[in-house]
Amino acid sequence: MVTAAVPQVAAIIGAGGGLGGALLAALETSSTYNRVIGLGRHTDPPLDLLSEPSIAAAAAWLAGAGELRLVLDATGFLHGAGFTPERSLRALDPAHMAHAYAINAIGPALLLKHLCPLLPRQGRSVFATLSARVGSIGDNRLGGWHSYRAAKAALNQFMRTAAVEVGRTHPEAILVALHPGTVATPLSAPFAKSGLDIRPPGEAATGLLAVIADLQSKDTGGFYDQTGATIPW
Ligand SMILES: NC(=O)c1ccc[n+]([C@@H]2O[C@H](COP(=O)([O-])OP(=O)(O)OC[C@H]3O[C@@H](n4cnc5c(N)ncnc54)[C@H](OP(=O)(O)O)[C@@H]3O)[C@@H](O)[C@H]2O)c1
Repeated sequence: MVTAAVPQVAAIIGAGGGLGGALLAALETSSTYNRVIGLGRHTDPPLDLLSEPSIAAAAAWLAGAGELRLVLDATGFLHGAGFTPERSLRALDPAHMAHAYAINAIGPALLLKHLCPLLPRQGRSVFATLSARVGSIGDNRLGGWHSYRAAKAALNQFMRTAAVEVGRTHPEAILVALHPGTVATPLSAPFAKSGLDIRPPGEAATGLLAVIADLQSKDTGGFYDQTGATIPW
């Protein structure tokens, strides 16, 4: 059990989601952090990626919660709000593209803007965002899912750029994009085909936390899968 006088805080954003909920539960039963906080659209304070004031207010609240040692962004959007992933160029729709970028790239970038200043300047801290292997440009052989792929590629660039900047003032901070594997959640459910290696959220959460525990300062700015292996940009 951690016995630091100032609480060592882990914050999970998107804690109401399939992976976010499993990550929150796994962290609550571990002793790595002595304060585990889940945030999302239905928490108090609420955090909505589409509202920068709500992100700023949640950050101000978190600033009083202790030393922020782990931020895990488990938010994301693949389908819903009347949109399904595109299978061809014909399906491109500016409203769908804008929504995918708002949730998968701009929202997490605003999390970086408001939460990185809360990371302690001394000692190890991690800011991990859940990206997706399909956001890899180098690994794209199947095509399709244009908006989700492009938004996740943008997210990866935001993470890399922030890692360079934060590294100048926070030498032990580690900022990474992680692919969780294919996990049984509402996001993947419509696309779950037999034959795919689909893991339960609890198992995926345990694996992701093990990858995060192994990260070192030199790993900042990277894109890693559920085993800790580097994914090409
Ligand atoms: N599941 C997979 O197989 C898989 C594979 C590759 C990558 N990923 C990535 O892993 C992450 C988590 O996905 P998941 O499978 O756990 O999906 P999920 O169950 O659908 O969860 C998505 C989360 O995003 C949050 N969210 C959506 N819009 C938001 C907004 N405007 N403001 C704040 N939060 C918002 C949801 O919050 P509410 O609870 O408020 O709705 C929910 O917590 C995503 O980034 C996804 O791209 C998942």
